Amino acid sequence: MAYENIRLETQGAISTLTIDRPKALNALNSKTLQELESALQTLGPDTRVLILTGGGEKAFVAGADIAEMSSISAAQAREFAALGHRVMATLESLPFPTIAAVNGFALGGGCELALACDLIYASEKAKLGLPEVSLGVIPGFGGTQRLARLVGKMRAKELIFTGGHVSAAQAKEYGLVLEVLPADKLLEHCRSVAEKILKNGPLAISQAKRVIEFGADQDLRAANELERQGFAVLFGSGDQREGMKAFLEKRPAAFTGK
Ligand code: CAA
Repeated sequence: MAYENIRLETQGAISTLTIDRPKALNALNSKTLQELESALQTLGPDTRVLILTGGGEKAFVAGADIAEMSSISAAQAREFAALGHRVMATLESLPFPTIAAVNGFALGGGCELALACDLIYASEKAKLGLPEVSLGVIPGFGGTQRLARLVGKMRAKELIFTGGHVSAAQAKEYGLVLEVLPADKLLEHCRSVAEKILKNGPLAISQAKRVIEFGADQDLRAANELERQGFAVLFGSGDQREGMKAFLEKRPAAFTGK
């Protein structure tokens, strides 16, 4: 499928989705969000890790599109936020890991896009933040909730109230990014993490993601029940039998995802 503002490339089991509107620093307008939504829905069982990054030299994504938002009504803003929320929820519920390769500005909706990914790595030149209050609004693609859950309520309030940009190193200190890499090593690093993931059982990775993701919103008792179900459901899969047999036979496992 031909897209105008994004690029989807697949190399083996790793797909890379690039938000590619560098003239507007990859800002998310409705069209880009719609393209993202449909691209995420086309990812089939061949994709086992998705890497998201930004096109051009400067930005991952510099936010939702301010020009488009500047004159919309409250009802339209609600629809726009619903579209953004759908994209983030689709990303979060993909049955395989997603990695944000934050190669530059990740502000507002761009930071929210990274927050909806399972793992975030950043280049040394990345700047992250939720500057919406400087525009007279608040984050609208889930940032108030996901940031607070990731870095804690107080740090999230500080970042959102001040609207400032933080460096990749500072973001790492806050637990907002996992590692900071030289710009020319960022994608290579993300691919090497993806390769490590690919060595493991796909069904197990999918269950682990589901249980961590849904469990995080529940109390410990209910979340642990989710874990027990996820654990049990894997028994009887070909991957469980192969993984344990390979261990006992002292050879690498050949998982099939069945
Ligand atoms: N929306 C639309 N266009 C944007 C944009 C955005 N979020 N961010 C940058 N652009 C455009 C600029 O308007 C400019 O276009 P022109 O060349 O046509 O003038 C082009 O991208 C390059 O940007 P700058 O000239 O501003 O580049 P810079 O290097 O001087 O500054 C920057 C870079 C600090 C990222 C600055 O562009 C900036 O502050 N951008 C806005 C960041 C922001 O506020 N994001 C939050 C948006 S609100 C949101 O996301 C709501 C939500 O949660 C749903």
